[in-house]
Amino acid sequence: MSLSNFCRPEGWLGAQSRLVFRERVPSTHDVLRELAIAGATEGTVVLAEEQTAGRGRVGRRWWAPPGTSVLFSALFRPPEPFVYHAQRVMMACGLAVRAAVREVTGLVPDIKWPNDLIFEREGDWKKTAGILAETECDLEGAPYLMVGVGLNVNVPPEQLSLLSPVATSLQNELGQSVDRTAILLALLHTLEATYMRLLAGWDPLPEWRAALAWMGRPVQVLAPDGEAIGVAEAVSENGALVLRMENGARVFYSVGDVSLRSAAVRAT
Ligand code: BTN
Repeated sequence: MSLSNFCRPEGWLGAQSRLVFRERVPSTHDVLRELAIAGATEGTVVLAEEQTAGRGRVGRRWWAPPGTSVLFSALFRPPEPFVYHAQRVMMACGLAVRAAVREVTGLVPDIKWPNDLIFEREGDWKKTAGILAETECDLEGAPYLMVGVGLNVNVPPEQLSLLSPVATSLQNELGQSVDRTAILLALLHTLEATYMRLLAGWDPLPEWRAALAWMGRPVQVLAPDGEAIGVAEAVSENGALVLRMENGARVFYSVGDVSLRSAAVRAT
């Protein structure tokens, strides 16, 4: 069923007056940015059935067959300390996607640092969702945060290789199609609730840490300044990945991509 009539009967995040639905856009993030710069209200959500120039982290593209996925960007205007809150919203969003998937399908994806939702089985892993968080300032100089979610819901198994070699979808994992409206309702509900908790002083860091895949295991980090191999030891207070190198040194990564390495890489 199309999401063109999607409507949240309660709450403010993506509520009717703050929801912008487009059948086809270059990127929901780019549409939301224009609205945000012009002063759009916190809680504005841009939802689309198709993106022709969807963006992923570290300069990647994000594509999904039209009408198969949940693709949206949500606007937040968290209070000071802005950077702290923005990091926490990013974590809360990963947890909200996880919770929504669990509520609707019973499947429980792990979070691959920093914010991919994956399923691991038999030594292999596949990605079902990605989250893109970006911060900027509007025309008044006020900072805002955009969180974009791309969740592969009903991408048929035979089309997954068109997305990426590691892509999966909820339909592929479950063996049957999934109600996208139910997922989106659950996701926006949980994201709104966790954001409110966050503003009231709750810290999602412990829960986010507990949901992270591959902690204590050998991983490869592809960072803008090169590639490194080590053991994913921890995540710091600000969400950076702490990699323990073979020589015992610890390196902190705040941006990058992590892949699991074979166990042949010795953990120190
Ligand atoms: C990643 O894993 O690299 C993040 C992917 C984020 C994709 C979503 S889809 C909705 C929103 N609009 C975009 O252009 N990107 C994000």
